[in-house]
Amino acid sequence: MKHILTADQIDRETLDRMEALTNQVRKKRGTREGALWLKSLFPHRRALLYFTQPSSRTFLSFHSACQNLGMDVVEIRSPDTSSEAKGESKLDSIRTFASYVHLIIMRSQEKGLAEAASKHLDGTPRPRPIINAGSGPDQHPTQALLDDYTLRRSLKDRGGIEGKVIVIAGDLKRSRVARSLALLMRFYDGVKIIFASPKSNKMNDDIINLLIHHEVNFEETTDFDWAVSQADAICMLRLQDEYDENYDNEIIDIDGKLYELRLENDPHSEKQKVVLYQSEKSKTEKQRTIEGYNFKKKHLKILKPHGIVMHPLPRREELDTICDNDPRVKIWRQVRNGMHVRTALIYRIMRQMELEMQWGGQIPANLEERCWMLTE
Ligand code: NCD
Repeated sequence: MKHILTADQIDRETLDRMEALTNQVRKKRGTREGALWLKSLFPHRRALLYFTQPSSRTFLSFHSACQNLGMDVVEIRSPDTSSEAKGESKLDSIRTFASYVHLIIMRSQEKGLAEAASKHLDGTPRPRPIINAGSGPDQHPTQALLDDYTLRRSLKDRGGIEGKVIVIAGDLKRSRVARSLALLMRFYDGVKIIFASPKSNKMNDDIINLLIHHEVNFEETTDFDWAVSQADAICMLRLQDEYDENYDNEIIDIDGKLYELRLENDPHSEKQKVVLYQSEKSKTEKQRTIEGYNFKKKHLKILKPHGIVMHPLPRREELDTICDNDPRVKIWRQVRNGMHVRTALIYRIMRQMELEMQWGGQIPANLEERCWMLTE
């Protein structure tokens, strides 16, 4: 596990080890002595945060994670300020970055860029680990790790994630968070996933087929209130309208009647088609949220007494702020957990890199274990 590119490369053992290592990191950071010890580990290493898509939490939690481990951090936050603006290819840019840093953490609009970058660097004399911090609407593996960690902690007293109903609701079609989390849920016996979304935003077939392949119990519904009533945990998601193409998500007026235009996969061909839905909106405006899939105060009553509510943030109307003080709402926990989980992950990757350098390549299997422990 040198690069972290997609959620499907993560296995159950990695999740268990990540939980244990993250707990160790949290504990260490709890004391001045421990926090200073962590900061003494990698002051000779530098990370690049290459974030060409907007980000607050993921960027800051990765930045803080590097600082927790004493690493230097450099950043590029827009392709306009790198030589890409002069026409340099992305892969040349990435090879340039690798010349200055030991770890590249990247978020981009482009599906598959992190994979392409890792393959490219692996073929050079300076291979560097790459962490995918979000690749277009496709994958967000470290969000899935922190969601898994939050679920484990929140459901610990109730036997863990095994056997629970996990609802994922909102714009499933274009949510990398939904796609990555759904994949990790396959490791838990007896889990049932409920995907709640309008048909136009339903989960894509690639993930559905993987879940079928792994015999994961799942159901798709358009009945949001029913889904809330079933949930041991519900993950709310925002409308991902930054990926709107052409007419997608526009509302138009035809002879006094309002219609929403949506792009949908055509089951009869590889292509997408534009579908018209009669709109209930009163004016022609761009949609901000998926009506009917917003978690409101009334849903706190429908939710099971122990059911938990998550959201990767940023939010719009999908989760009413009035719900925030309910102890079942874990969104601010997720924000904190993101930093701890990413600190653990970077520790593990840097530790492996150091050992590989020491051993001049592949490290013996018994030493692998040491990458998962906080050791001198
Ligand atoms: C998510 C993302 O960027 O995919 N946010 C995050 O990483 N915390 C979710 C979103 O933007 O809706």
